[in-house]
Amino acid sequence: MTMELSLENAAAGRAHRTGTTDRALREWVAEIAGLTQPDEVVWCDGSLQEADRLTKQLVNEGKLIRLNPEWRPNSYLARTDPGDVARVEDRTFICSELEEDAGPTNNWREPAGMRAELAGVFAGSMRGRTMYVVPFSMGPLGGPISQLGVEITDSPYVVLSMGVMTRMGERVFEMIEQGTPWVRTVHSVGYPLVDSKGFRRADADWPSNPEKYIVQFPDTREIWSFGSGYGGNALLAKKCFALRIASVMARDDDWLAEHMLLIKITSPEGRTYHVAAAFPSACGKTNLAMLRPTIPGWKVETVGDDIAWMRPGPDGRLYAINPEAGFFGVAPGTGETTNPTAVQTLWGNTIFTNVALRDDGDVWWEGLTDEAPDHLVDWQGNDWTPDSGRPAAHPNSRFTVGAAQCPSIADDWEAHEGVPVDAILFGGRRATNVPLVAEARSWKHGVFMGSTISSEKTAAAEGTVGELRRDPFAMLPFCGYNMADYWGHWVKMGRILGDQAPRIFQVNWFRKDADGSFLWPGFGENARVLEWIVGRIEGDAEAEDTPIGRIPAEGALNVDGLDLDEGVLDHLFEVDRDSWLAECDLTEEYYAKFGDRVPAALNAELASLRYHLKQA
Ligand code: GTP
Ligand code: SPV
Ligand code: MN
Repeated sequence: MTMELSLENAAAGRAHRTGTTDRALREWVAEIAGLTQPDEVVWCDGSLQEADRLTKQLVNEGKLIRLNPEWRPNSYLARTDPGDVARVEDRTFICSELEEDAGPTNNWREPAGMRAELAGVFAGSMRGRTMYVVPFSMGPLGGPISQLGVEITDSPYVVLSMGVMTRMGERVFEMIEQGTPWVRTVHSVGYPLVDSKGFRRADADWPSNPEKYIVQFPDTREIWSFGSGYGGNALLAKKCFALRIASVMARDDDWLAEHMLLIKITSPEGRTYHVAAAFPSACGKTNLAMLRPTIPGWKVETVGDDIAWMRPGPDGRLYAINPEAGFFGVAPGTGETTNPTAVQTLWGNTIFTNVALRDDGDVWWEGLTDEAPDHLVDWQGNDWTPDSGRPAAHPNSRFTVGAAQCPSIADDWEAHEGVPVDAILFGGRRATNVPLVAEARSWKHGVFMGSTISSEKTAAAEGTVGELRRDPFAMLPFCGYNMADYWGHWVKMGRILGDQAPRIFQVNWFRKDADGSFLWPGFGENARVLEWIVGRIEGDAEAEDTPIGRIPAEGALNVDGLDLDEGVLDHLFEVDRDSWLAECDLTEEYYAKFGDRVPAALNAELASLRYHLKQA
């Protein structure tokens, strides 16, 4: 079917908007419809009525389960195909013109070849389905750091999720009509309902395709995603745009697109600070973003939990926005004791994916309560009891909820110009070696810290959980260009920011003792680390120099009332010379993969670290 016909269908009453007057957008939609051959095209308007209509449709089709509104009003459960539960890093491609511009940490494919392959894969991929055109803004509409995009998708679940996770709506079409640039993104679950001969098949509860493609073309700033309906694979505004494509835009235009949470901290004296922190997937960003300090007088408020876009402002300081409008957070481990703010945020208006269903029509996951209910239906729709011997919720099960609903949301979370960043934290899951907190001696030293982050793998991506891997800046799966060039860009941003640059720290909540239990209580107690960091910014917290950075001096970290066992603090801050020299060897090996693209400043930092370790 041609686009003209689709638009006529729409005009006949099936769609809210019969299109945009923007020629380039119309032509692109027509081109994609011509390729994917949907039954009809719907231009989304982002209204509540539209979301309500799609929700009812999905419930009628059995693809969403309406939760008991007494417990969880306007909330739904989706169960994915067991083969579509996490990001697929080995099917994620960066198609820059030159292979070395993607670098050794990305899967590169030659753009023309990939385009040809995608043309085959997408041909007829929406037959029998509706194609939705979803206009969205990353960041507040019209803000100086914000960006526009359009996602074409054949998944109503994606449309609903985009409505929560982005500012989605008709005003974006108006801005595009007025000439604001926008990014093209195309998504198909890859499960056509009609084949090329016209034979129809029944839909799946969670349509997807075993063959998946998550493809970024950084030079033309385009995204094509096929075969998955889940999370970062399918909500293309999130990782594909706001990190992979935006990191390239940021490189070209002197800003930063980062896998970081953003918080506002208020001290007992009433002074406010903003902190950004990069931790790998499922390593505690949402927890820190919603932290409830255990120490009196301190307040932490939420600006963002996953992505930060940061730009030097008119006063020369670094300003950050959260480009998203919602949270796509890990459910397991989110409970009354670990993250009560998240639990409150999820009171209603939430889409849950791959969690367990209670007999009373509410949801449950491991860690929500200490004790599991006697009976549940697990994430795959099977009966479950506490002695089933398998998790009731998938380890990467998630909630999708609007940020405005979070009780700890900061008053400045939608500030158009962003919030000024006072400190940047880098962290990972490290059972050994890395101390609870260490301050970088300089911006360059901080960039070195970020570049050397390693972390134990989590369920957020397909693959082996627990294995230690390098995850520089928590951006390994998300940097849209050569990682060494990205480090160089960070070094350059330090030159631009000069003495206005935020202070940089490395943190690790996950150090373990010999029998494998966490040394640090974590969660709300992490406020103690924030207190020391704020003290460093103010210049009144004492530090002690070590070869790897500055750690709190004896007595400078507030542990009042913590009841830590004898020796735990020493263990938390222990810097073992030989293990660190061994880490240096591994870093040298890692850097060698990038050849001469590693910034000289980072090689100098590595040499200096070795020198100081040998002196120690
Ligand atoms: P993505 O959304 O995947 O980018 O991840 P995220 O960094 O937002 O992950 P999230 O905050 O949901 O991470 C949750 C995991 O980190 C759970 O397993 C938590 O139990 C664990 N976690 C968070 N904070 C702490 C902490 O202070 N100490 C310990 N031991 N675990 C923590
Ligand atoms: C992550 O894996 O870092 C996430 C979840 O935030 S997803 O959006 O699926 O990438
Ligand atoms: Mn993330």
